[in-house]
Amino acid sequence: MPSLASVIFLSMFTSAFARYGKLYCSAFLPHKPLSSPHFVSRPSLTPHVSQKELSTDSCPLEFDVGPYNAAEVRTATLEQTSSDDEFLTKLHESLDYWKRNEYTSAWINVPVHRARIIEALSNTTLGFDLHHTNSTQRTIIMKKWLRDDKQDLIPPFATHQVGCAGFVLNDRNEILLIKEWTGPYTPSGRVPSKQWKLPGGLLDAGESLEEATIREVYEETGVSCDFEGVLAFWHRHGLKFGKSDLYYVCLLRPRSLELMACPVEISDARWMHVDDFLECEDHPLITHVLKCSFRLEGGDGNNKIGKGENVMRLKPQAKMVTGAVQWPGRSPYPTYTSVVTE
Ligand SMILES: *[C@@H]1O[C@H](CO)[C@@H](O)[C@H](O)[C@H]1NC(C)=O
Ligand SMILES: *[C@@H]1O[C@H](CO)[C@@H](O)[C@H](O)[C@H]1NC(C)=O
Repeated sequence: MPSLASVIFLSMFTSAFARYGKLYCSAFLPHKPLSSPHFVSRPSLTPHVSQKELSTDSCPLEFDVGPYNAAEVRTATLEQTSSDDEFLTKLHESLDYWKRNEYTSAWINVPVHRARIIEALSNTTLGFDLHHTNSTQRTIIMKKWLRDDKQDLIPPFATHQVGCAGFVLNDRNEILLIKEWTGPYTPSGRVPSKQWKLPGGLLDAGESLEEATIREVYEETGVSCDFEGVLAFWHRHGLKFGKSDLYYVCLLRPRSLELMACPVEISDARWMHVDDFLECEDHPLITHVLKCSFRLEGGDGNNKIGKGENVMRLKPQAKMVTGAVQWPGRSPYPTYTSVVTE
């Protein structure tokens, strides 16, 4: 099974801390509308139809048919069954029905106020597993793989978070850098971080990479930008909640140079010429991008690009630009392919 479902909910892992800062900063800055998201919901391979339309053999619990022939018990079914024992009895019979009719998995959304039933659902007799929680709906989602002879192919819930950084390069070959606050989250206890870094953050659910990068740069520094392409990304493991991280560095062109740093998240923001950066800063990611994408060496003073009036804006050797893949009947998927510049 594709891990598409895993990728869709990635940005749920934004910490409450970052979210607080974001809300505060959005309120602090004038509202700036972004273009409508290119988000496409999880493709449903089988249309949701009631089981009654499928078979005359009857199933005691009402359910919908989900992707890959999954039997999804309607949340209302449990809500409307007042006794857990009654529901569990019907569930036993329904499991037989689903196995007989070759469903691949069974799903139950347990509302928080019925959480006691989880103990029975997850015991060895019934064998449901915890899959994830839905905080909007206040439900705990449990699943059971129904094909004893085959390996469980249900994808786990989100495995990655997706982040983005704006590599904002102006016409004077200066890059936009920030320092965050570190230390306890109280106005008196905070200290600026030592290192300059690129502005950025995590993608929100349903947001495109372009929208997220432009939004994060704007929220943190007040600089509006246009998106030019993806320069690099990293992939690392072992983050909070056992998640992995995909982190994209995107080339942006600023529309203006005026800075208005978000006071909650950001302790300082500035433009720094790339020559100066390479001479005195050692941020490994920014250095890597300058060396690999822009072929700059720095350090020894022999490879300066200079600050004169006639200096051209740096060009990366290549960048990945936005295109779209169009499936019939679906919104286009933003798709990035590399182009060699010049
Ligand atoms: C599991 O839960 C069911 C329903 O409550 C119960 O009938 C059964 O005895 C339990 N099995 C175990 C092993 O606890
Ligand atoms: C929570 O439930 C709503 C309504 O069914 C759905 O739109 C949303 O995608 C769900 N979120 C998760 C994390 O399952």
